[in-house]
Amino acid sequence: MVVQAHAAATDPAGIDLDVVREIVSHFKPQDHQEAQELILAALQEVNERFGYVSLEAAEIVAAHLGTTANRVYGLLTFYADFRTEPRGKHFMLVCHGMSCYALGSQALVQELKDRWGIADGGTTADGELTIQVVNGCLGVCDKAPIVELDHAFHGDLTVERLNDVIQRAIAARNASPVAILGSGSDHGSQQ
Ligand code: FES
Repeated sequence: MVVQAHAAATDPAGIDLDVVREIVSHFKPQDHQEAQELILAALQEVNERFGYVSLEAAEIVAAHLGTTANRVYGLLTFYADFRTEPRGKHFMLVCHGMSCYALGSQALVQELKDRWGIADGGTTADGELTIQVVNGCLGVCDKAPIVELDHAFHGDLTVERLNDVIQRAIAARNASPVAILGSGSDHGSQQ
């Protein structure tokens, strides 16, 4: 794969490549070895800034740190924390930790697959929702099983209530960033 030294300002998926260049410019390795050690850190910054690392962004990282885009892309696909495609408008973490698993998270994961057509890391065909299944505990086991949708926790979930939470978020377009764990309709008082 040919490494581009200077790509267009914005890649096809919408990442501002000038921002990527700004991010990588802060990495100033003294030698080749140090440059190789900085690749993951640079990718993490890009991933955190945009939610994913596009091929074009990977090429910029590769050019700056003296490696190939193929190697950088290999790292992106090897480590689960990285995404190579943009997220949907809404992003949901599905807790699959021990407590959530014991209380039904597998049914939630299955419903996401059956009804919404998405598995771990996937995005609905309409681009509305991306999910990530988390095998570690999200820290609110007393409300298991839970999901975190657009930074808001929803606990004591059933399949029906999961679908309702998703539908309401999509309808509202702007989910609140304020945690609603333990409040209102998300704890069984509805329907
Ligand atoms: S296991 Fe899911 S919140 Fe602890």
